[in-house]
Amino acid sequence: MKALVLSGGKGTRLRPLTHTLPKQLLPVAAKPILYFVMEQIKEAGISEVGVIIAPETGEMIKESLQENPWQHRFTFIMQDKPMGLAHAVKTAQDFLQDDSFLMYLGDNLIGESVKSFVDVFVKENLDSIILLKKVADPRAFGVAVVDEESGRVLRLIEKPKKPPSDLALVGVYLFNSSIHSIIADLKPSARGELEITDAIQNLVAAQGKVKAHILEKWWLDTGKKDDIIEANRMVLDEFTQRDIRASVDNNSNIAGRVFIDSSSVVENSIIRGPSKIGKNVVVKNAYIGPYTSISDGCLIENSAVECSVILEDSKIISVEHLDESLIGKQSIVTKHKGIKKSLKLMVGDDALVELP
Ligand code: TTP
Repeated sequence: MKALVLSGGKGTRLRPLTHTLPKQLLPVAAKPILYFVMEQIKEAGISEVGVIIAPETGEMIKESLQENPWQHRFTFIMQDKPMGLAHAVKTAQDFLQDDSFLMYLGDNLIGESVKSFVDVFVKENLDSIILLKKVADPRAFGVAVVDEESGRVLRLIEKPKKPPSDLALVGVYLFNSSIHSIIADLKPSARGELEITDAIQNLVAAQGKVKAHILEKWWLDTGKKDDIIEANRMVLDEFTQRDIRASVDNNSNIAGRVFIDSSSVVENSIIRGPSKIGKNVVVKNAYIGPYTSISDGCLIENSAVECSVILEDSKIISVEHLDESLIGKQSIVTKHKGIKKSLKLMVGDDALVELP
């Protein structure tokens, strides 16, 4: 069994951050999303990993996987244009050969180990297993109809106007080599992409053995800003242990499950968990509320920050209350010293600024 991780794409919905960083490398609980994916693949006992990359961001993805603590054997596969998830599989055919594979979208996270359904896939000799999750509004997803008794998938539709069920297709799939001939015959969808939903539907129609596994735990598709904030909240909640290695003065109070690296400093501040603070961070006269991740090299001074993700080397100074925010690298958010009550901004392309 091999793994295919999709780390190409455009990431338009996460601009401006994705102008300089592929979305798979955005941190959740101070760790790139892609690393969680690699951990899951390791846990499933797979070590042969193909990684789909795009010309714009491929080098950054490669570099981030260089240390490779999971000891995977990586093959990087260039997809010249993001022409769909099934197109990515087609591009990877030389790597995949006739092996079965676990396909994982590099910006998806799930709260369950994939090992159990890899085992079922092998044991029952299936053509595919898809993962599904009940969602409140399925219209934005691929939606499946499943035979409750057998777990067999009966029908799949991409972004239906009238969803026939509330089961959305999660970005983790298992396939055997029968998917390749199906994809070879696939036509592009209305948006011009080769859709994996259409490929699986055609596999079902060709009497392929396709089963569904309905996730009980969480699923996070980190495509937009609020998804990253939510993913950060879920992952901090689930995995953070109290571990305070930093130098903390007597005027500070650190409550709950907070991780702070030993190279960081906390002075006259309150920090509430679950929260995570990386290397060489200075927290001074500040409040850091629950569900906050602060990456390496940041300064948080005379400010309150809650439920937010702050990327490397940024400064938050004299900000009354920053909430549910995603701040890119080397940014400065501060109050200006003039007497006028005006906003002074230097905002990058495609940015979002929300004012009270
Ligand atoms: P999407 O989120 O569907 O697409 P995107 O990355 O282009 O984002 P946006 O809609 O904001 O522009 O992609 C899901 C995952 O699959 C993501 O990790 C990127 C990857 N992907 C590829 O590797 N190749 C592709 O052709 C596509 C469409 C996505």
